[in-house]
Amino acid sequence: MMKSKVFIAKKIPREVEEYLARYCEYRKWDSDEPISRAQLLEEVKDIEGLLITGGKIDRELLDHAPKLKVVSNISVGYNNFDLEAMGERKVLGTNTPSVLDDTVADLIFGLMLAVARRIPELDRFVKEGRWQKCSDEPFWGIDVHHATLGIIGMGRIGEAVAKRAKYGFSMEVLYYNRRRKPEVEESLGVHYRTLEQLLQEADYVVLMTPLTPESTGLMGPHEFSLMKKNAIFINASRGETVNEEALIAALEKGQIWGAGLDVFSQEPVDPGNPLLKMPNVVTVPHIGSATAKTRFAMAMLAAQNLVKALQGEVPPNLVEELRV
Ligand code: DGY
Repeated sequence: MMKSKVFIAKKIPREVEEYLARYCEYRKWDSDEPISRAQLLEEVKDIEGLLITGGKIDRELLDHAPKLKVVSNISVGYNNFDLEAMGERKVLGTNTPSVLDDTVADLIFGLMLAVARRIPELDRFVKEGRWQKCSDEPFWGIDVHHATLGIIGMGRIGEAVAKRAKYGFSMEVLYYNRRRKPEVEESLGVHYRTLEQLLQEADYVVLMTPLTPESTGLMGPHEFSLMKKNAIFINASRGETVNEEALIAALEKGQIWGAGLDVFSQEPVDPGNPLLKMPNVVTVPHIGSATAKTRFAMAMLAAQNLVKALQGEVPPNLVEELRV
């Protein structure tokens, strides 16, 4: 049987490539630099399957790829999909849920602790030889344990964060979600709040919602103004869920205590972005799921989704908007 033609637009582990080789004929992008749009449009001309992270799958790309049957994202987020255009052309789209939940939840907790206890700021202080007096009052932070956590977006990752908060840090956990989740309230003892109530009550606000038209700019000037003065804001979703100017203004005005950010409205972030100059803001370069084990699991799952779709089956992680 003829093997389907596939393009792999991102470096993947050798074992995953070997798995794909059993089912597909493939070309691959083999650089650490992201593939350019022009190159991607060239590469998709004759393929049936595309393995990718983040590149826009829009009408322009679909026009260049008349044989395309499936786009398999190596990511849980799929805001790069133009779902309407893909639906019209019957191109399937898949993502990699579940395998990264605990890894992203760990990073979220790392950011909470780092901001609250000022770890990066104090690390610089020690390493720069500025630790000369014994009073530690200027270094005091705020507690994570027993504080109130508000999770915006109670999906699988939200639940993994809630478990850590409840069982590891004795926190009170509130959540806001498009759909109320009585089963999670029951199993984890978390409490539903409206967005406004959550922002007013939480000491830590964790934003973990997928990027959709409804969640774009969800956190704006009004939302930040509702937060407590000593509250910490964490974003590990997508940069566009936050109005970044409003976040900067809230931090500059001292409306909130600090922020931990894995994502930015522009990535890689502009080195001149004021957020990078603020000691009470801890930043990482969109690495929520970046451990070797999890990235391997994501690449393998994405490859399996791709193969299943090319075999004419419903792939296990077909995104819900494209299910018929
Ligand atoms: C995801 O899986 O969506 C991560 O944010 C990486 O893009």
